[in-house]
Amino acid sequence: MTLDPADLELAGLRLDIDTPQRADGTQAAGAVATVTLSRPRRRNAMTPSMWRGLAKIGSALPPQVRVVVIRGEGQSFSAGIDLRLFSAEGVPAEGPLPDLRSDGFEAWIADCQAGFRWLRRPDIVSIAAVRGHAIGAGFQLALSCDLRVFAEDAKVCMKEPALGLVPDLTGTKPLVDIVGLPRALEICLTTRTLDAIEARELGLAEIVVPVDRLDEVVADLSAALLTTDAATARATKKLLSMAAGNTLEEQAAAERRIQTELQRERLGPLPS
Ligand code: CAA
Repeated sequence: MTLDPADLELAGLRLDIDTPQRADGTQAAGAVATVTLSRPRRRNAMTPSMWRGLAKIGSALPPQVRVVVIRGEGQSFSAGIDLRLFSAEGVPAEGPLPDLRSDGFEAWIADCQAGFRWLRRPDIVSIAAVRGHAIGAGFQLALSCDLRVFAEDAKVCMKEPALGLVPDLTGTKPLVDIVGLPRALEICLTTRTLDAIEARELGLAEIVVPVDRLDEVVADLSAALLTTDAATARATKKLLSMAAGNTLEEQAAAERRIQTELQRERLGPLPS
């Protein structure tokens, strides 16, 4: 699948792929893809076209990409779904939402979720670079990433229940995994806004940085992630991702198995 920048632009997205330089001036072993939500006048409000565009980016990512950064253009990460979709006005060039009671509604949600799910793939590490608001679908997009770097002005809110919706863009699992069920319930049902400091205290942000240092810190983190060899990074992410659902015994077995697979991949077959 090829990615046409004009199609991405229509969906409110931009993709830049770059191979960073190491401190010694040589090229890093792997590239960084930066996906920019690019509807700043609407605070990067999201549409189904944008979610389909994100899924397309995931499917067409060149194999050398090992880090994916998701960021918003302008002062917000994303103000969530474009609220005009719920009104008769609609969004230009965007079809209407399906009837929320229709038989096809679940399949339609699965389609939208595809824009978020690829960010957990073992061959990449995804980073949400969040400045300003990340509301509803915007918060869920940040939660879909492996890591979150927040600017000091970041504000997150799981707004969906206030609109009579459950959060359904893959955000509920990472939210509960990170903050636990009681806090997740409180955050979702009060629909309150959390600032960057609280987000860091709850583990929703790995790092909080001054607004004007966000890009630089994310670039440094991306470069640092590329210092580990690609096969080792992929195997380590796969192993760590299994830990929460495994018993100690199962995880110990996974460590043995994945270590053996990795060493066979790295070193080739045993000499005879
Ligand atoms: N949809 C469509 N337009 C939006 C928007 C949204 N979600 N959020 C902001 N905009 C538009 C505003 O209408 C405004 O447009 P005009 O300049 O034409 O008036 C422009 O973006 C700037 O917005 P504000 O003037 O409000 O900017 P602000 O900086 O004062 O506030 C904000 C920013 C806090 C994000 C505020 O705009 C806001 O609360 N937006 C709505 C957030 C929201 O409720 N989103 C839905 C989340 S639920 C969800 O996402 C569910 C799902 O997935 C199904």
